[in-house]
Amino acid sequence: MKFENDLVLRAARGEDIERYPVWLMRQAGRILPEYRAVRGELSGFKELVETPERAAEVTIQPVDLLGVDAAIIFSDILVVPEAMGLEYQMIEKKGPWFEKTIRSMDELIYAQTDFDIEDRLGYVTEAISITNKALNGRVPLIGFAGAPWTIFCYMTEGQGSKTFSESRKLLYTNPTLAHELLNRITEVTIKYLKAQIKAGAHMVQVFDSWAGILGKEQYAEFGLKYMDRIAAAITEVPVTIFAKGAYNSVSEIAAMSCNTVGVDWNMQVDEIRKSVGESITLQGNLDPCVLYSSHSEVERLTKNMLDSFKSKRHIVNLGHGVYPDMDPEKVKTFIKTVKNYEINY
Ligand code: CP3
Repeated sequence: MKFENDLVLRAARGEDIERYPVWLMRQAGRILPEYRAVRGELSGFKELVETPERAAEVTIQPVDLLGVDAAIIFSDILVVPEAMGLEYQMIEKKGPWFEKTIRSMDELIYAQTDFDIEDRLGYVTEAISITNKALNGRVPLIGFAGAPWTIFCYMTEGQGSKTFSESRKLLYTNPTLAHELLNRITEVTIKYLKAQIKAGAHMVQVFDSWAGILGKEQYAEFGLKYMDRIAAAITEVPVTIFAKGAYNSVSEIAAMSCNTVGVDWNMQVDEIRKSVGESITLQGNLDPCVLYSSHSEVERLTKNMLDSFKSKRHIVNLGHGVYPDMDPEKVKTFIKTVKNYEINY
């Protein structure tokens, strides 16, 4: 594939770059009025995710409107549990909700693995092909999936939670069930990411949004073990692992077969760099809330963040997703500041 702009792939592989690539987690979404308009024409979020032409359209919006250096396919991590047999709803102002949950061996009937990915998730791979045709090599397209631990959280808790205590309870009361479910999620996720790559995803990111709620030993046993299997299985394209809040485990993550490690805004970049070494790319890490400040503050704090990385192995992003009520003009200031920044390393 010949790209007009392949900065993000070069930065992931540790090749030379003339400036830092920048994109935002959750860039395709509610910050853009143009996204809300498309969603408003449909019955809601799920229909948008499941309609490949419209999903492709909102995937490309931030490339056109914000000037980011990568597109990320518009979908959700929760399409995987749904394909396995656990249907979700996206409730306005509340978030994801599952009618059924998996908390016993009997309920593993809702965690199927023996199905064809194209059969149940063909709408995602189709959206990827349509997006690439329309992008025509302008920027690379990122595919993604949730990490087994984070998907496990939703499948067992059944909704979002501050503590995920139902999920964590299972690790103590029924570790056999926990490992069986994590195994199944891992198996499906590998097949799913490979299907996205076959359809045209140029790099993939695995989101472990709830990594930070486990202690180091438990995260090693119930999180990293399965993440490692995914990283080892994906050899076709660069892999990014974003394990939010996993400060204690970054060196273990960096030792996996991945190119890039996501860094959230609580992480101290110089310390992270010391523990991961020089042969890996870091992605992040502006506090998303900086985008609520004035344009001049956004510029100043973005430059400070850029200064802190001191390496060409950097893909610029926020430390987590952009919040829905943020002003797209502030996002543009963030992006402009990155694009104008001169690399001195
Ligand atoms: O632009 C992109 O980043 C691509 C699209 C994307 C979405 N979700 C669309 C979405 C991506 C990469 C995700 C990942 C995702 N989904 C994660 C991991 C990243 C993270 O934020 O930690 C998680 C935990 C989910 C689960 C999920 N989906 C939740 C908790 C919610 C509700 C919270 C909210 O923001 O409302 C969603 C909904 C969701 N996924 C929206 C979007 C654009 C908002 C729904 C809407 O448009 O009404």
